[in-house]
Amino acid sequence: MIVATRAGSVGLDLAGEGAPLVLLHGFPHDRTLWVPQLAAGIPGARVIAPDLPGFGESAVVTPASMDAWADWLAGLFDALAVDRAILGGLSMGGYLAFAFWRRHGARVRALVLADTRAGADDQEGRAKRRAMQMLVDAQGVGPVAERMLPGMVGKTTRETRPEVVATLDAMMRRASARAVHDALDALRERPDSTPTLATIDVPTLVVCGDEDALTPVSESRAMAAAIPGSRLAVIPRAGHASNLEAPEEFTRLLSEFVGATIRPNSP
Ligand code: MLT
Repeated sequence: MIVATRAGSVGLDLAGEGAPLVLLHGFPHDRTLWVPQLAAGIPGARVIAPDLPGFGESAVVTPASMDAWADWLAGLFDALAVDRAILGGLSMGGYLAFAFWRRHGARVRALVLADTRAGADDQEGRAKRRAMQMLVDAQGVGPVAERMLPGMVGKTTRETRPEVVATLDAMMRRASARAVHDALDALRERPDSTPTLATIDVPTLVVCGDEDALTPVSESRAMAAAIPGSRLAVIPRAGHASNLEAPEEFTRLLSEFVGATIRPNSP
């Protein structure tokens, strides 16, 4: 469905009834990343999976930055009459969750940080983002998807689950060149969220596929160690797109975490 917000139209899928659970996809994905969780349902939760700005059916937001996107997300909360939500983000979605926490922390009931990292890009990483922007501007998203696909999934998925690889490949190729270009600005310029970790005082689940090569388990361990009271779950035989590669295990972990968060007397 398409929802009108003060920052433009937003494409999203909804599933279930209960406590709002907003799931933010990675780069360069769209809301269909969350199809396994939307289809399975998360008991006690109303799952809300939006396309991030420029992706899928969502309008672009300018300037493209994690802070601007965090305010955009607050506008979506308002449009959906959501006061507070459990906020989950995979990779780039995690970067956005950190920005939302800093700017609109009172609206976060709990956090799920999946296959992401707290640190900013270093100089080499920034140069790679610029090179990727030049590539997408000149040749469109095809070569970007080709370059990203091998790291997007783990070894087990690459070798045994061609249908998951094909789903991700098609998802990335569907992205518009404009969305990819803009997101690269937001990714490149995002601030270091490491100092933010100690400020997180809501229940937090950190999840990572043990074959994640883009945001390795060491990043998740460091985040979990720095977030007071957080829990780390490592998913075996899954890579960067852990929710798609190991959908049952990811959904089970998410359901368990949401259940514990919304139980009476929980924060
Ligand atoms: C993602 O999956 O969102 C990207 O790998 C994030 C990044 O490039 O930093």
